[in-house]
Amino acid sequence: MNIATVITTPFSDQKPGTSGLRKKVTVFRTPGYLENFVQAVFDTIDAPPGSTLVLGGDGRYHNREAIQVILRMAAAAGIAKVLVGRGGILSTPAASRVIRKYGCFGGLILSASHNPGGPEGDFGIKYNTGNGGPAPEKITDAIFARSRELTRYRIADAPDLDLDRPGRHGLGDMVVEIIDPVADYAELMESLFDFAAIRTLIGSGFRLCFDAMHAVTGPYAREIIEARLGAPAGTVINGVPLEDFGGGHPDPNLTYADQLVAIMYGGDDANPAPDFGAASDGDGDRNMILGRHFFVTPSDSLAIIAANAALAPGYADGIAGIARSMPTSAAADRVAEKLGVPCYETPTGWKFFGNLMDAGKVTLCGEESFGTGSSHVREKDGLWAVLFWLNILANSRLSVAEIVHRHWAGYGRNVYSRHDYEALPSDVAAGVMAQVRGRFADLPGQRFGDYRVKFCDDFSYTDPIDGSLSTGQGLRIGFEDGSRIVFRLSGTGTEGATLRIYLEAFEPDPARQRVDAQQALAPLIAIADQLSELKQRTGRERPTVIT
Ligand code: G6P
Ligand code: ZN
Repeated sequence: MNIATVITTPFSDQKPGTSGLRKKVTVFRTPGYLENFVQAVFDTIDAPPGSTLVLGGDGRYHNREAIQVILRMAAAAGIAKVLVGRGGILSTPAASRVIRKYGCFGGLILSASHNPGGPEGDFGIKYNTGNGGPAPEKITDAIFARSRELTRYRIADAPDLDLDRPGRHGLGDMVVEIIDPVADYAELMESLFDFAAIRTLIGSGFRLCFDAMHAVTGPYAREIIEARLGAPAGTVINGVPLEDFGGGHPDPNLTYADQLVAIMYGGDDANPAPDFGAASDGDGDRNMILGRHFFVTPSDSLAIIAANAALAPGYADGIAGIARSMPTSAAADRVAEKLGVPCYETPTGWKFFGNLMDAGKVTLCGEESFGTGSSHVREKDGLWAVLFWLNILANSRLSVAEIVHRHWAGYGRNVYSRHDYEALPSDVAAGVMAQVRGRFADLPGQRFGDYRVKFCDDFSYTDPIDGSLSTGQGLRIGFEDGSRIVFRLSGTGTEGATLRIYLEAFEPDPARQRVDAQQALAPLIAIADQLSELKQRTGRERPTVIT
């Protein structure tokens, strides 16, 4: 096999973000752009002889072409074997599973998560290490540094492989094995959850709807929910992965999963809405949980999963601990306290959970940004959360709303909402943050109506495992009754700056727990506005998105 060495010029913008390198498809199609980045990865990871890698993506536009290029470059880099999901498909949690199950050196996942796809949409690539999790910053920094200095890439001269034909293929000395993208993942789910109990629940007339949003979870949900758990055909909607996600925005929230929301909030007495609804994002790591006419906040979902974890066979021996990102509500902390296990508060970003899971300190992790997961893999996992809820529902035989209401009655309710101000000019957003920070010296002890400030700080985190320090992770203002306001700038926005305001109030009284969150949080919303001079500084009357 011929290996060509191609002279190239470095690109200056290949710095991986929160979740790998994400750019427009048009950028990835610039000659040499993908090749340069992939070469920088191979040069950095320096995989030893005999190494196996995993390769797959969420099926978005450009997935197949990119896989052919990466395979030829892997062969040129001396990789011994690559496991590729059939059709180029692997959800992010499934890729994590495959890396771990087969003890692979690492893997490349092609996705831009919940960002829209298609020729005008986004594409992305990220490297995961042998623990199945996203590469830590010291590796992504090294990849970036390498991308800025390389002058050549190496690529094998070979025809395209048939990605749809399962089994072993040769590419020079390298073996490419096309694997079933679903089997290893489904096997893991079956080992964690009580499939027999869920089958019985579904057989009893319990109705559910899973919206795959024309993204990667379609084949996974059809196999697991319809084939293995016996839900009727059609339970999974938008189940065929499309290169442009059907023109949609594959983000499972109340705004973008509008078809599912209409189903779950619709119906009448004669034909009621399903008992349970859920959706996942482009690459299958996010989730949204709904009951009939009921939305479960991601923060509550984490707490409820933790409180009921012992119902699932994979967690029957108990959990080691819980971790949540700082802006996620403290509902999980209350559960951890009752269980007598630690609860860690980390900066936003799934990568901060990796060390805690590897060290066995935590079993469950969650973020307010629709991410929940556990140490079964090293990514957040949308379908896992759905199956956990189904396991809890099968055991309790209560409705989703009843489960949540009982949880609140037992632990108190952390009433929660996030207000996003998107596409602000960067200096305006920075001004709001500076204004809040400027108040810190005199805030403690001050009273705002019923609320007295207990503390305020700029959140920083020292990783208890490797001692690394992350500063400037969000401005927290805590009140004496446990309520909280957090100001934070998004790290994932693409246009200007996105300011996120996280609001949380604690309501111990069951008689007052069922009020609407915006209503219950109104006093805190007013305090946030007053402290930050939000309206004057942004000229905005209301948030762009409320979750
Ligand atoms: C990605 C990460 C998450 C993070 C989320 C929100 O989805 O994987 O871990 O919580 O982005 O980030 P942002 O900085 O936009 O609030
Ligand atoms: Zn995702």
